[in-house]
Amino acid sequence: MSVDLNQIKVELVEALENAENLRALDEIRVAFRGQKGKITLLSKSIKDVAPENRASFGKDINELKDLADSLIEKRKTELFEKEVEQQLESEWIDVTISKKDQKGHLHPLTQIQNRIEDIFTSMGFIVLDGPETESEYNNFEALNIPKDHPARDMQDTFWTTDGNLLRTHTSCIQVRGMKKLKPPFKVIAPGRVFRYEAIDASHENTFYQVEGMVVDKEISVANLISSMRTLLREVFEKDVKVRLRPGYFPFVEPGFELDISCLICGGSGCSVCKQSGWVELLPCGLVHPNVLKAGGIDPNEYSGFAFGLGLNRLVMMKYGINDIRHFQSGDLRFVRQF
Ligand code: PHE
Repeated sequence: MSVDLNQIKVELVEALENAENLRALDEIRVAFRGQKGKITLLSKSIKDVAPENRASFGKDINELKDLADSLIEKRKTELFEKEVEQQLESEWIDVTISKKDQKGHLHPLTQIQNRIEDIFTSMGFIVLDGPETESEYNNFEALNIPKDHPARDMQDTFWTTDGNLLRTHTSCIQVRGMKKLKPPFKVIAPGRVFRYEAIDASHENTFYQVEGMVVDKEISVANLISSMRTLLREVFEKDVKVRLRPGYFPFVEPGFELDISCLICGGSGCSVCKQSGWVELLPCGLVHPNVLKAGGIDPNEYSGFAFGLGLNRLVMMKYGINDIRHFQSGDLRFVRQF
């Protein structure tokens, strides 16, 4: 091999050793094997070689080309593997690391809703669900609240542009339930409800209720009160002071408001109980015959009770939360306490 060829080979080996990455390697490939690369230019000089030496020069040049190609290829593999390793190292994450305080958990409303579902299913109730957007019929008319009835003012409504509404209470699920089920039945229906109203410590435009409905023969107020007592005892894990007073809802007759003694202030009066010492928690009553009729149930044969538990207020009483706005605040400092 001529001095020139040997020289080039030494240069190439040294350059390859120093190549740090694939880009540098490609520059080396171009410098030696590219169109204007050292080896290419040298092979073109064959015309200047004495004719008797051309054959051996040609052979040497071809050997050098093969050698250069295989050295470059070998280095390419090495550098590629090195780059993959570096990438794996820099992008590596340990999926087994768990930081206790960063785990999510159920919202207090969900926790108590689950608890209430357990309590009622253990008493033979089934759990129903319904859509948050409802028809005017299911939200009002089927519940004995005709179009011009003043009771519609009790529930300021968010209307949708197509004439439907965001349900103002979970009582619409009663309507859906009656159509699906044959009496006797016992259902609860937890859900989110919406009202267009001024917001303060005890009022939100979006909150949760748990509807309940029992239809059977000879259902009376006594059945209603005993179920409500069981519910409150199980949720609060102690006896709480309650009072029952007449309440008006067009879909029940008689209708009641079941209040509990405010557990935030102990009954002395605060912003949550509007200084009254009592919190309205469980509006309820015996199902109005018109409602049974609209649901396809004969009121002469069957009667029933219904209630609409205010879930947010119940959770507030259970945990001593003094402002309903915390629930939707998205503040993790609040949620993490439960
Ligand atoms: N739907 C009523 C409300 O939201 C509550 C209620 C339910 C009252 C069932 C009586 C019976 O205000």
